[in-house]
Amino acid sequence: EPVKMSVNERTFIAVKPDGVHRGLVGKIIARFEERGYKLVALKQLTASKGHLEVHYQDLKEKPFFPGLIDYMASGPIVAMVWQGLDVVKQGRVMLGATNPLASAPGTIRGDFAIQTGRNICHGSDSVDSANREIAHWFKPDEINDYASPFINSWV
Ligand code: TYD
Repeated sequence: EPVKMSVNERTFIAVKPDGVHRGLVGKIIARFEERGYKLVALKQLTASKGHLEVHYQDLKEKPFFPGLIDYMASGPIVAMVWQGLDVVKQGRVMLGATNPLASAPGTIRGDFAIQTGRNICHGSDSVDSANREIAHWFKPDEINDYASPFINSWV
């Protein structure tokens, strides 16, 4: 079966409150820019617990769920939509494993984090999740695609 890849695939990436607090926003953005992905939406906000409970709805039975919601609501996050070839899967590779101690050096979590409960970034785990999460965090007019001379048009 052919691998499904779309040039204009989109994923939802967020810098979590600890990542913002630690001043890692620029470094995380730079990694996606330098890799060749296009930033098509960006905002900083402090999310409500209700909004986060919907975002993490698949985890609501997990023992860590209440702590996860408190952590994610504890301060501002930076919410983003990144676009480009295979960005959902590659975004997960760039973030590293959920537990930073299992994340390879060179990944965001593997370079900047040591605790699962403070793993500094979020990335959608599938194209379906990405579509759901993007619609949950952004209105359509907050997403701005644009022609870039640098992206998808290399010689
Ligand atoms: P999950 O969706 O499993 O991981 P990922 O963020 O890599 O997609 O879990 C969501 C978040 O929940 C995870 O980033 C950190 C937190 N979490 C814990 O606090 N403890 C845990 O044991 C797990 C699995 C996750």
